[in-house]
Amino acid sequence: MITTSPGIGGLPRLSIVNDFAEAEVYLLGATVTHWKPRDHAPVLWTGPADLYQPGKPIRGGIPLCLPWFGPHADASKPAHGFVRTRPWTVERTAELPDGRSRVKLSFTTDAETRAIWPHDLRVGLTVTVGKTLGLELTITNTGKETVVIGEALHTYFAVEDIRRTIVHGLSGTTYLDKVAGGRHRQCGDGIAFTGETDRVYLSAHDECVIDDEVGGRRIRVRKSGSGATVVWNPWIAKSAKMADFGTDQWMNMVCVESGNAHDSTYALPPAFSHHLGCEIGVEGG
Ligand code: BG6
Repeated sequence: MITTSPGIGGLPRLSIVNDFAEAEVYLLGATVTHWKPRDHAPVLWTGPADLYQPGKPIRGGIPLCLPWFGPHADASKPAHGFVRTRPWTVERTAELPDGRSRVKLSFTTDAETRAIWPHDLRVGLTVTVGKTLGLELTITNTGKETVVIGEALHTYFAVEDIRRTIVHGLSGTTYLDKVAGGRHRQCGDGIAFTGETDRVYLSAHDECVIDDEVGGRRIRVRKSGSGATVVWNPWIAKSAKMADFGTDQWMNMVCVESGNAHDSTYALPPAFSHHLGCEIGVEGG
């Protein structure tokens, strides 16, 4: 069953329940905020509810970074682009014959976004809710010039204790370290967390597995159309400075983001489309 109702802060929200899972998608930024497969704890992390406001990104779930990733060179422009703070439109909802549910949302640039970024895009997000959670972001250049795109499915995963969480799947890749600076090679198979971590893994195309040792579960993230994986946890001091992080909430989250950033940003000619997808699954817990 797929229903529309006001969510937190009165913001429009789709709620999805089927035999496999339940999920929620806010029209603000087409942000998936909740996915709980049957017999598992919720897989996505969300921050304090009182900050769900029109024009502000939702802290948690899966905000969409587009058409650039991270800060813009012009600091007056919003970090991670403008798509995550805009209202989206529901295009279609469907119950699939195999019991999964699917919603398709869309967003089109307008006069307000052109004032920030003078180009045109049509963006679609298809969310498929089942035993796994599938997201497919389709970006079409509807303007007359080639545009350069950076993007991410900025996924916040819930973990019991980040200090006993390991992210696998990035071994041998090079990363840009946004905390310590510089380029480094990921040695060893797993990323463990002992402090603020903010890394863009380059030429990273493979599946990642988040091993949440205390929660006793493994979350799998398969992706397509993505050449970068971002791994982020703000830790204690940085999260304390962020208004939309509750006390000690840094402990229960890790972002593993599928996207294109730095050397995988790409040029999209007029009338061309690009697809960025991910499929999330969970074992145990
Ligand atoms: C991550 C970035 O993707 O998002 C971090 O790598 C950033 O540098 C984080 O701090 C959160 O960004 P924001 O704009 O949602 O606070």
